[in-house]
Amino acid sequence: MQRGFFITLEGLDGSGKTTQIKRLAAWMEKRHLPPTVTRQPGGTTTGDRIRPLLLDSRSTGLAPMTEMALMFADRAQTIAEVIQPALDAGKIVLCDRFTDSTEAYQGGGRELGSEIVLELHRLICGNLTPDLTLLLLPSLESSLDRARRRNERHNEQTGQDEGRFEQEQDAFYRRVWEKYREIARREPDRVILIGGNLGIDEVHEQIVEAVAEVLLTARKNG
Ligand code: TMP
Repeated sequence: MQRGFFITLEGLDGSGKTTQIKRLAAWMEKRHLPPTVTRQPGGTTTGDRIRPLLLDSRSTGLAPMTEMALMFADRAQTIAEVIQPALDAGKIVLCDRFTDSTEAYQGGGRELGSEIVLELHRLICGNLTPDLTLLLLPSLESSLDRARRRNERHNEQTGQDEGRFEQEQDAFYRRVWEKYREIARREPDRVILIGGNLGIDEVHEQIVEAVAEVLLTARKNG
């Protein structure tokens, strides 16, 4: 059976990923290409139980290795339950964060380094690599601002506290941001970097342009 197509969205907290995933999914549905949409951490029953362990700011004292292991535990479950079956069925998968997040946040932010993340990805995730990664990377300053404002709103509206990462200092986010840029430089064929402080519509346009192009190429080659 023809393998489907695997697209991931990446970026700092507050980069607008979630809005863009929704718009991209709607764009695909209109073109009769309804995607399977998922996210990390979360996206499965097990993952939705792991997510609060990772994100609740009352989860104090999590060792960086524990944090990374939980991210991979969540990912292994999503691959087994959602991503691989959808790809095997020839579907397009849209995933909000994947292993690039672990490399950026745990490898860069927590300073565990890229090597261990990539090795675990090979061992735990069978090296499953996205066909296309859209990396939303506005300036560090505006990302931080948006993340903190979004988190306050989210906590007020839902009563859920997902602020553990947003409490990190700016130096942590600078390392995450730099690691993302390093990944984009290392894998220019897979990672499309959408930088600058663009509006929601402009980002959406750049995303659909990139997606249309790779889907067309994939169809020609398939
Ligand atoms: P989000 O669902 O709003 O994108 O938030 C998830 C948070 O978890 C975000 O701060 C990034 C962090 N994260 C990691 O640190 N490592 C990972 O591997 C993943 C998937 C997320």
